[in-house]
Amino acid sequence: MPKPIYILNGPNLNLLGKREPEIYGTTTLAEIEAMSAARAEAAGFRVVFRQTAREGELVEWLHDARENGAAVIINAGAYSHTSVAIHDALRAVDLPVVEVHLSNVHRRESFRHHSFVSAAADGIIMGLGAHGYELAVDAAIALIAKAARTA
Ligand code: DQA
Repeated sequence: MPKPIYILNGPNLNLLGKREPEIYGTTTLAEIEAMSAARAEAAGFRVVFRQTAREGELVEWLHDARENGAAVIINAGAYSHTSVAIHDALRAVDLPVVEVHLSNVHRRESFRHHSFVSAAADGIIMGLGAHGYELAVDAAIALIAKAARTA
């Protein structure tokens, strides 16, 4: 069994489905977890799917992924725009990293246009709602396969 793909979610994402559905859609985080797990399992991977409001917990989970994961998919929520600590932890994971946002942050307020996650990510998926997580799983699996070929 390969190592799992870590899918880490930041603050307020536990409210998906209820929170600003005109921006974030009506799919809940539990539904996103099920969709992501099904997508990964079809390719022989497990996911570790987590959500927290705490920046330090995201950092600790990235350290966990570094030891025990095959790739990281991260929607750091608002911390994307503020957290040097998450940027540094991502730089240290040495695994494929895919950044996800449900909304297209570039169509929104200017304070969302910069992400500290982006500079530490291999790729970015945004604006495609919950489906973006499935696309991120596909991308992470492709990056894992590519890394194995070049190892
Ligand atoms: C978000 C975009 C962020 O700007 C926002 O703070 C979020 C959600 C997204 O998925 O679109 O919490 O990361």
